[in-house]
Amino acid sequence: MTKWNDTEVRQAFPALGLSDGGLPRLYADAPGGTQVATQCLDRMRQAMVDQCANEAGVFLTTRLTSEWMTTVHAAAAEFVGGEADEVVFGLNTTSLLFHFSRMLMREWNPGDDIVVTRMDHDANVGPWLIAAEERGVTVRWLDVDPQTFQYRYDTLGDLIGPRTRLVACNHASNFLGTINDVARIVAAARAVGAVTVVDAVQSAPHFQLDVRAIDCDILVSSPYKYFGPHAGLLYVRRALSERLRPLKIRPSPDSMPYRHAPGTPSFEAQLGTYGAFEHLAWLGERFGRPAGDSLRARMGAGLLAATEHEAILASHFLAGIASMPGIRLYGLGEPAAVAGRVPTFSFTVEGHTAEAVARTFAQHNIYVWDGSFYAYEVSGLLGVRDSGVVRIGFAHYNTVAEVDRILEVLDGVVRAR
Ligand SMILES: Cc1ncc(COP(=O)(O)O)c(C=O)c1O
Repeated sequence: MTKWNDTEVRQAFPALGLSDGGLPRLYADAPGGTQVATQCLDRMRQAMVDQCANEAGVFLTTRLTSEWMTTVHAAAAEFVGGEADEVVFGLNTTSLLFHFSRMLMREWNPGDDIVVTRMDHDANVGPWLIAAEERGVTVRWLDVDPQTFQYRYDTLGDLIGPRTRLVACNHASNFLGTINDVARIVAAARAVGAVTVVDAVQSAPHFQLDVRAIDCDILVSSPYKYFGPHAGLLYVRRALSERLRPLKIRPSPDSMPYRHAPGTPSFEAQLGTYGAFEHLAWLGERFGRPAGDSLRARMGAGLLAATEHEAILASHFLAGIASMPGIRLYGLGEPAAVAGRVPTFSFTVEGHTAEAVARTFAQHNIYVWDGSFYAYEVSGLLGVRDSGVVRIGFAHYNTVAEVDRILEVLDGVVRAR
């Protein structure tokens, strides 16, 4: 195990070396999508040059594609802590959830209810609302406390009952940064036999997922948020997967992953995702203490090393903005609360629109988001859905020096009131 080394970590990402007109790029846009690791690029090239063919044929390139599909699904299972026949790749999280909502809704009847939350990205709300409307099912909401930025866990007992068919919740918020106790929500839902869906899109880049510990039926993530290509990855518990009537065309196999992945998949995205896993495993081997040789152990150690580094960035950022007047942070702001959040910070600056602040950053070649990021309910609850917030998010490839550069620009904005 070696001490964390920013230079070495950053060399793993070709895009981090780019500059424009002499200004280096500073990527503080991780919650919108991360930069891509070299291993991902190499694997995508492999898929598109060395073995570009559809799968399940007899010649060399098709056989290679089939073999790699098996390898990638086994690795994806290790990433989430499930089995290889419990993972499905898709275009993105939103389309995967729409797809599964079509199958799950067949089990609902008028008089049933479902529970969705006011903290989720709309990808884990909208598909369920549409399905509920079509089936005449009541929608109940798990609220967010606008003071603590936590779920109102105390209401779970009232919300979830014997007619609850589905509970969909968020693991880490793309707006507040809060990490949620999804195991608690899932336990309450499973007690009444409801199907549970966890959106892990924003947790996956920061700590190791464990579907068995959470005990959920479905868990989704998007590899482009964790150093891989644009794609979606869904875990579905085997018992549920087998129970659902698949939305498949007649000749396609009934086995996983084909059962729930209609049409030809993006093999390049699958191999690219494998490359992202290799990057995390490399991080673990280089800067962590893997508890064994398995890919899961090495990825887990890599994510742990990343978390430790990100905690330093987050504390530094929070300490920096604490003394700036006119900044309103929507999320946990105490440096001591860093363990309860991912390094995603949404805020407004008094006297400036969020867009103007983001534009000022852009002039310095610093990439930050403005808007409400489809966190439709929580941004509405906090009164910033239309006006928007500035969102700064870090990944393990960011540095303390970059945080300082961000704080310097922000300080200039604050002073220009
Ligand atoms: C928490 C969360 N869920 C879902 C999504 C949607 O993911 P995708 O773009 O893969 O559909 C996002 C995208 O930002 C997100 O942050």
